[in-house]
Amino acid sequence: MFDLIIKGGTLPDGTVADIGITGDRITAIGRLEGAEAGQVIDATGDLVSPPFVDPHFHLDATLSYGLPRINVSGTLLEGIGLWGELKQIVTQEEMVARALDYCDWAASMGLLAIRSHVDTCDDSLKGVAAMLEVRDKVKGYIDLQLVAFPQDGFYRDPTARANTIRALDMGVDVVGGIPHFERTMADGAASVRELCEIAAKRGLRVDMHCDESDDPLSRHIETLAYEAQRLGLQGRVAGSHLTSMHSMDNYYVSKLLPLMAEAGVAAIPNPLINIMLQGRHDTFPKRRGLTRVKEMQAQGITVGWGQDCVRDPWYSLGTADMLDVAFMGLHVAQMSSPDEMRRCFDMVTVENARILGLEGYGLNVGAVASLVVLDAGDPIEAVRLRAARLAVVSKGRVIARTPRGDAMLDLPERPGSVRRRHRVT
Ligand code: FE2
Repeated sequence: MFDLIIKGGTLPDGTVADIGITGDRITAIGRLEGAEAGQVIDATGDLVSPPFVDPHFHLDATLSYGLPRINVSGTLLEGIGLWGELKQIVTQEEMVARALDYCDWAASMGLLAIRSHVDTCDDSLKGVAAMLEVRDKVKGYIDLQLVAFPQDGFYRDPTARANTIRALDMGVDVVGGIPHFERTMADGAASVRELCEIAAKRGLRVDMHCDESDDPLSRHIETLAYEAQRLGLQGRVAGSHLTSMHSMDNYYVSKLLPLMAEAGVAAIPNPLINIMLQGRHDTFPKRRGLTRVKEMQAQGITVGWGQDCVRDPWYSLGTADMLDVAFMGLHVAQMSSPDEMRRCFDMVTVENARILGLEGYGLNVGAVASLVVLDAGDPIEAVRLRAARLAVVSKGRVIARTPRGDAMLDLPERPGSVRRRHRVT
């Protein structure tokens, strides 16, 4: 007797199986003919996947678009300035309310684990307090991992260093940084070194905004890989954005990528945001603003797609849909072969989960019973359609349902529904 059975779904590897759930765990996978359950969801012909994971987000700023004004230039730097104005006037309650609204939306999209940076450059640390409150409020259905993020520079902002350490003392999970925003390259490298030492001492993971610029000489990822190696942090460090890598000299990159692989440093490109923010000083040809995704993967480096922003000072759009992120990433990185398209789906599920170090993630017996039933036959179709989340199960509970996305044609000569799912056999 199970509490819940997901019947007849197709798993991402193509296996067709029933999934039996007891409490908050997956307790059987296979053919469960005749098994009884409190609830059964028929997933015949549908894709059943582990939940989506976002490894890079800003929950303290989300859903604030237009407050107190919009970003006219569309640049990263105007976004940082605008956020600096907003964080003076926003209240802790407003940040909590917006973040909870976003988490509701994310949960409905099957996005059940989020790593969010939280700005520590505010002496009141109201954003940190707000996000800790949100982490606690959503823990029954979303795993929220917080990163202490000195937005205005760990050294450049006079109180950022002390406030970042205070935030970690308050219970923030991961150590962040922004070396390319420090006053000099030397200060940036020093900030990477000290922040990695803080993480190593506390047994924490590291995730830095790193080289988010078009400057080919911004090379903080090299220092981050070096410090990960030196301090024994292999597998626990990620570099977010890494956009300068698209402009780096090819010879230098041929040395850099093996160093990253050796140090076990993961990469988190954010394609929606960086295709929007980068290359703003270029005329033509205009750079794409995305790091070297396929090249890193070829070296064995873990690469996950991140969302970064939804309706905030840096980005006016966004859907809380990791399939949108995968879709944009697939295009900008030109990941068009069947294997590469499937890899884009893995990047927003299993590879992102690996970057976060999520325990009990996946579709196997003993794993946490969190999954998504998608209106798609396979991972490629899910990315192509940004398929509807027919059902979302979090920790054993069905928390969201969405109807199929077919439209009904109102053409008397061709009655019926529009087929969005096409199988070539
Ligand atoms: Fe970010």
